[in-house]
Amino acid sequence: MKTKLWKVNPTNPEQQAIREASELLKQGGLVAFPTETVYGLGAIVYNKHSVKKIFEVKGRPRNNPLIVHISNLNQLNDVVSKVPEELELLAETFWPGPLTLVLPKSPLVPLEVTAGLPNVGVRMPAHRVALALIEEAEAPLSAPSANVSGSPSPTLAEHVLKDLDGKIEGVLDAGETLYGVESTILDLTVKPPVLLRPGALPVEKLEEVLGLKVQIPGFARGLNESEVALAPGMKYRHYAPKAEMTVVESSRYSDQADLIKLTEAVKKHALYTSSTSARTCILCTDETIVFYSDLPPNVAVKNLGSRRDPFTIARNLFKTLREIDEEGFLYVVAEGVEEKGLGLTIMNRLRKASGYRIIKI
Ligand code: TXA
Ligand code: MG
Repeated sequence: MKTKLWKVNPTNPEQQAIREASELLKQGGLVAFPTETVYGLGAIVYNKHSVKKIFEVKGRPRNNPLIVHISNLNQLNDVVSKVPEELELLAETFWPGPLTLVLPKSPLVPLEVTAGLPNVGVRMPAHRVALALIEEAEAPLSAPSANVSGSPSPTLAEHVLKDLDGKIEGVLDAGETLYGVESTILDLTVKPPVLLRPGALPVEKLEEVLGLKVQIPGFARGLNESEVALAPGMKYRHYAPKAEMTVVESSRYSDQADLIKLTEAVKKHALYTSSTSARTCILCTDETIVFYSDLPPNVAVKNLGSRRDPFTIARNLFKTLREIDEEGFLYVVAEGVEEKGLGLTIMNRLRKASGYRIIKI
């Protein structure tokens, strides 16, 4: 199959491209599109056959449910059967935006979408292209991240093509996505609500608006796998580069002494992995890069950004993991960050990407 590529203006998408893309969706095809988080791989939610194709082309385990993307609140009533009281407040405050809410599904949503679960994850993305596409398709789109299952989520159309060229009908290319990390997933079917996946919207913001503490299970912190495939990639290695990755975590990242201790441990592990002359890449930050001036030639350093700006670290993470594979590194050693705000999201992705290969200092 030839995958059609449309370059579109991110804030004012060309109508012709949106029309062609939605036509392919209506015919049962799969089209990748940008959102404010990462690129998604869309199919019309009511078309079981297209939904099944999503699982096939991604190599996605069948028990991992898909998020339904809506462009207006009328569609919410089509896909959910009960609207809990918190929903209005959250939707009003955060939609369109990087928040996915898990709610009881309506009978209209095929079980293929929810992997047999009685609940459905729904979000309204904050991206003109995504919203225009859903409007033109005249139906919500079920869309996982547009990558091959297990690999880092795509933040550029090039990443989508690398993984799925020739396997899907089209890609709407609107350049790099804003957050570079997926939406936050909150389960509203239980009280208090449970964080199923930390994402681009910090959990503290949800707590502020809800006026209560959200439950944060260990799997949401990326510490372990969930028993059931209730949510995000709890059963499989996720977001992972091909290179073998280790995360070095400290309990404190506050002052210079903490960071020196951290970088010493990172260097020690990097020297160990590179001792066989294999190439190793260290993932560091603005604050720590100075401590890596004395490395052997087969150890490289990539800076993700400042610890005071976790937005940038999160935004660079998946892109950098893909670069690491392109450049042929065999090992990655990543520094941990403080688990606060987007730091929780970053630690979830790092721990999962490492397959829980964690060194604690
Ligand atoms: O930002 C995002 O959320 C992106 C963009 C494209 O919207 N999408 C995304 O989808 O990250 P995906 O499929 O890669 O991750 C969605 C996660 C899945 O791991 C799935 O387990 C969870 O959401 N999920 C979806 N529906 C669920 C449900 N009914 N109950 C529990 N978890 C659910
Ligand atoms: Mg994904």
